[in-house]
Amino acid sequence: MAPDTNDLRGPCPGLNTLANHGFLPRDGKGLNVSIILDASLKGYNLQSEVIIVPAKLGLLTTNNPSSFTLDDIKLHGTIEHDASLSREDLALGDNVHFNETIFSTLANSNPGSDFYDVASAGKVQQLRLEDSETRNPFNNTNTEKEIGIRSGESALYLSVMGDPVTGKAPKEFVQIFFREERLPIAEGWHRPETPISLATRNPLVQSITEASNWTSSGGCPVIILDP
Ligand code: HEM
Ligand code: MG
Repeated sequence: MAPDTNDLRGPCPGLNTLANHGFLPRDGKGLNVSIILDASLKGYNLQSEVIIVPAKLGLLTTNNPSSFTLDDIKLHGTIEHDASLSREDLALGDNVHFNETIFSTLANSNPGSDFYDVASAGKVQQLRLEDSETRNPFNNTNTEKEIGIRSGESALYLSVMGDPVTGKAPKEFVQIFFREERLPIAEGWHRPETPISLATRNPLVQSITEASNWTSSGGCPVIILDP
């Protein structure tokens, strides 16, 4: 179900989708670590070992001591970063809502194939970073922290929409996931049979980072600790 006017959504297509399907509270509020771990397992067969750290970081994005909302997690510099796949840099505008112009780099990647893979995902990250550096030269942050999160997110869209072992995901599924924030069940998607674990995710992250030809723009990694 699409969100109601009072429902909160945020910069994460993975969590927005879980809320749109009722695995997370549809209002996007009252989230905590166990609620996120439970929904990730039910919706995506995603093991808690993969998602517990971002789930904990979610609590830093609010002054509420025990819960956060899907909107809170937009706090720039905790998890949210520049050069996103489907959202604008904060300094250039809206870092929360889906942006088709930004997403076109990913949408049009890997021409001639029906799949995205670690090579295309790495190339997309490279292009998104170049665009961010060109248009947002004074506010772009790009350290080891950001590449770790960005490659982790790319590994997640390949894993939840495709095969967590090979890292190949049908383009149609990935595009529906980002554009509509729904599970493409009607199109033939099903929850991955292979549990998404650190053992499946870490090799994908490594291959994606290698394929992205990444270098740091300098500066120390910083985690913003509160709003
Ligand atoms: C971004 C997937 C869980 C917080 C993203 C992106 C993907 C993704 C693919 C990149 C979006 C883009 O670059 O445009 C997932 C999946 C999850 C999940 C499949 C499984 C449940 C989480 C958790 C948190 C979180 C547990 C924290 C509570 C974020 C935030 C962003 C994000 C703040 C924005 C980063 C940015 O692009 O600037 N997620 N995620 N995600 N995710 Fe998640
Ligand atoms: Mg961002």
